[in-house]
Amino acid sequence: MPILTIASFKGGPGKTTLCQIIATKCAADGLTVSVIDADPTKAMSDWHTNTYEGIPFTCISETSERSIADLALSLDEKSDLVLIDTAGFGNLAGAVAMTVADQILVPLTAGAADLNQAEETIKQAKGLAAAARRKIEVRAIMNRLSRTNLTKHAEQELKEAGIPTLSSTISHRTAFGEISYSGTLPSKGPAADEVTSLINELKEIGWVPNK
Ligand SMILES: Nc1ncnc2c1ncn2[C@@H]1O[C@H](COP(=O)(O)OP(=O)(O)OP(=O)(O)O)[C@@H](O)[C@H]1O
Ligand SMILES: [Mg+2]
Repeated sequence: MPILTIASFKGGPGKTTLCQIIATKCAADGLTVSVIDADPTKAMSDWHTNTYEGIPFTCISETSERSIADLALSLDEKSDLVLIDTAGFGNLAGAVAMTVADQILVPLTAGAADLNQAEETIKQAKGLAAAARRKIEVRAIMNRLSRTNLTKHAEQELKEAGIPTLSSTISHRTAFGEISYSGTLPSKGPAADEVTSLINELKEIGWVPNK
């Protein structure tokens, strides 16, 4: 079953938020989900322990580059989906989490720095896949979108840079910012629709099992 790592060299584009969204929605859809929190700040695992209120899923904090691959492979045997949330500073644990992945999701917000860092993350992913002689799919996803010229510019630049990007996007919305302390996903309205579209697209491209 797929191992999906969420990575970016830059801090703050929404890795943990996306991990929370995908894990929560997939657990609610009946999948057995396991998450590895490979970020020493433990944002994902603390949220899972203290705040999360949805259908249970496993979440383990593991920041040692020596243990992440073994843990991911053992969780893979008993899960429909393994997600790995990584730190925003390109450490060795993050590189191992990218190398063990079947797919890597790279969130970015509109802005030159994010675009640059997304490109760097994607180059790193390609290098790791080549070193491991494996195929690892990589896609960017635009997060915190607002309908501005900056957003359109970023979309254009992604295209020009040849960065494969999901057509689903996540807007900048209070409902998404609130996940970190509400422990639940938005249940209706445009935010809920964006979550559904994202999961549907991940199912269509085979990144999330369609059960
Ligand atoms: N679509 C969104 N709308 C509103 N707020 C958002 C959205 N996505 C993320 N945020 C907020 O932005 C902040 C950074 O997001 P998040 O922690 O998910 O980023 P990260 O990439 O995991 O950061 P780090 O690199 O530090 O681990 C958080 O406060 C989160 O609630
Ligand atoms: Mg994070």
